[in-house]
Amino acid sequence: MNAVAGLLRVDPNPQPVEEARREEILAAPGFGLHFTDHMVLIEWTPGRGWHDGRVQPYGSLSLDPATAVLHYAQEIFEGMKAYRHGDGSVWTFRPEFNAARFQRSSWRMALPQLPTDVFVEAVDALVRTDAAWVPGGAETSLYVRPFMYASEVFLGVRPAEHATFCVIASPAGPYFPGDLKPVSIWLSQDYTRAARGGTGAAKCGGNYAASLIAQQQATDHGCAQVAFLDAVERRYVEELGGMNLFLVRTDGSIVTPELGDSVLDGVTRDSLISLLGDLGHKVEERRVEVAEWREGVAAGEVSEVFACGTAAVVTPVGVLKWDGGQADSAAPHGGAAGPVTSAVRAALVDVQYGRAADDRGWLHRVR
Ligand code: COI
Repeated sequence: MNAVAGLLRVDPNPQPVEEARREEILAAPGFGLHFTDHMVLIEWTPGRGWHDGRVQPYGSLSLDPATAVLHYAQEIFEGMKAYRHGDGSVWTFRPEFNAARFQRSSWRMALPQLPTDVFVEAVDALVRTDAAWVPGGAETSLYVRPFMYASEVFLGVRPAEHATFCVIASPAGPYFPGDLKPVSIWLSQDYTRAARGGTGAAKCGGNYAASLIAQQQATDHGCAQVAFLDAVERRYVEELGGMNLFLVRTDGSIVTPELGDSVLDGVTRDSLISLLGDLGHKVEERRVEVAEWREGVAAGEVSEVFACGTAAVVTPVGVLKWDGGQADSAAPHGGAAGPVTSAVRAALVDVQYGRAADDRGWLHRVR
């Protein structure tokens, strides 16, 4: 780590949010609405590598209108959380997984590679500095958003020769309000999210921009999220706008779409595969036909569906709607989360909040 020590200077915020206001925010944080007092910035150029790292007061970035990211969207990000345990200590969850995925996203988007120790230290430094912003309420956390963008001022189309890495943090409650009420999903048959050889496995802003028109259609149909099919045959479910998906079969086996270059390798997805194994379920990672979901629910072969992600944790899915029909996998559970969804969610959050043994060494102590 000692290549990293000293990389980040700390420039404290002379005007942090007042304690009373911060406590008011932490009592009902919402999602992505409020930001802590500091942020991390580190610059990269080919000649100097990573340099000028600092923890500085949170504030606006000033960008020249010709900054490359504003034109060609050369940008990537991560989503992570810091959890406060019962004894007041603060922990992140599998930060090296996020660092490795960030490197893969960088590679795909022709951005520079940020070493794992620098990534982890940058997140730790921000969480340590703003530890008072880690809420302690049930199911709350500090959502941490590392990102990198092409900051070179240049309109030619080529990989930028100046990139900026930034970390911001935002206290968070549930992504979907409503106390684990199953969400409804719109099946997009008009739009796809990612194609073979494309950027679907990279966590880049462009993937999310491309999902928004379909997300809008989902909202127009009264659904909270959209499910995307593969771009070639429009037959296999890949993922939701920003979450992975699992189907629980009545025989106890569980399926999730396999990874490939059009599906994001989710930290939560990966963790749930292990935890479901501990709960005695066999998880198959393979292509999943949408018919297996639609008709499987109707035939009583699929008993539960759930979505997962850092922001969404484990969210039960109820109705899947499409043009001309719907299938409700929550109906057999009285419109609530099914037993496998509830059990695996509890297994995950119990580790994250320090209530269960961390047998796999997933937790990383920050403070
Ligand atoms: C996350 O779960 O962290 C995500 O990135 C999903 C979304 C909030 C963009």
